[in-house]
Amino acid sequence: EAAQKDGYDTFMLKEIHEQPHAISETLRGRIENKERIILPELDVIKSRFKTFNKAYFIACGTAYHACLSGANILERLTGIPTSTQAASEFRYGEPIIDEKTLCIFVSQSGETADTLAALRLAKAKKATVIAVANVLGSTISREATATIYTCAGPEIAVASTKAYTTQVIVLLLLAMYIAQTLGKKSEIYRDIIKDIILLPKQIKNILKDEKIFEKYANYLKKQHDAYYIGRNLDYASVLEGALKLKEVSYIHADAYIAGELKHGPIALIEKGSVVIAVATQPHIATKTISNIQETIARGAKVILFTLSNEEAGNVDEIYYMPNINPILQAILVAVPLQLIAYYAAKLKGCDVDKPRNLAKSVTVE
Ligand code: G6P
Repeated sequence: EAAQKDGYDTFMLKEIHEQPHAISETLRGRIENKERIILPELDVIKSRFKTFNKAYFIACGTAYHACLSGANILERLTGIPTSTQAASEFRYGEPIIDEKTLCIFVSQSGETADTLAALRLAKAKKATVIAVANVLGSTISREATATIYTCAGPEIAVASTKAYTTQVIVLLLLAMYIAQTLGKKSEIYRDIIKDIILLPKQIKNILKDEKIFEKYANYLKKQHDAYYIGRNLDYASVLEGALKLKEVSYIHADAYIAGELKHGPIALIEKGSVVIAVATQPHIATKTISNIQETIARGAKVILFTLSNEEAGNVDEIYYMPNINPILQAILVAVPLQLIAYYAAKLKGCDVDKPRNLAKSVTVE
């Protein structure tokens, strides 16, 4: 096992560090001349794209958070209305689905019971079913009409890291591919296709700051609760950041839409509360930053991830994200949030790779 860990203490840390490579592998052969996405996996369903009048994104756990970003991106790039659902809800709901519906199922293992049941329901209702999976030949990938693989390599740690970032990448490529097929290459499309190939390098640079994130984890060591806040795509990122923290450190963590703080969660903030805020989306960063000020006024300690041109005020820690297309921040900011969770768990002496009560793949309901 030590050999498999490649000199890292844990699989989780190894897998966090594998992300530049996993992302390069996932992008490999899928972008041509910085101007087109190539996904031959979708040839069989390409002719149906123009008929889609809505898209559902369905998954469990971390993959569900990747779906929240994916849905946001698909809607922005194609104008197709989207909805994201946890597979355990979708399968027992009465989703309004027919042959004009696109259903996208995301699963690292390709074996999650709820996701598989949801996929079968969507197929029975005649939707077009695309799977995004990491494990080749898995049940979900076999049963879907088309499968796009994340090329993350085997993920051993229970808490998902490299599978998540590669899922967001694949969902982004899928959205761009549908946009280009529908003749909707917008300015954002062109901007992303330029920046996307920079991601492995950008993540390498973020990983060089590992010590900084280890230091941030000290804020959480003695906490019972942690509050993550963000808006828009940053909200999906903080949901995933909070999930990582609770999974591996057992610290109760919740993620809130920053604009919803005033409708309840702010009542919980007191002297010494720790708030982790993500404000990487230029059109609403200042709004989130003003929500942060409200938590500071009540004694919170704040760790903020934002852009270098934002005026952040008196936060305790600030980390400036690289200057890149805002959609791609959904991938970049995952990495520091994973490292904060990891080091918080380490500080508490937790078994990071095998958290209590959790399984890598949940194949029974
Ligand atoms: C379990 C794992 C999570 C994972 C979820 C969905 O709960 O512990 O890390 O996100 O299942 O798994 P899947 O294989 O479908 O992505």
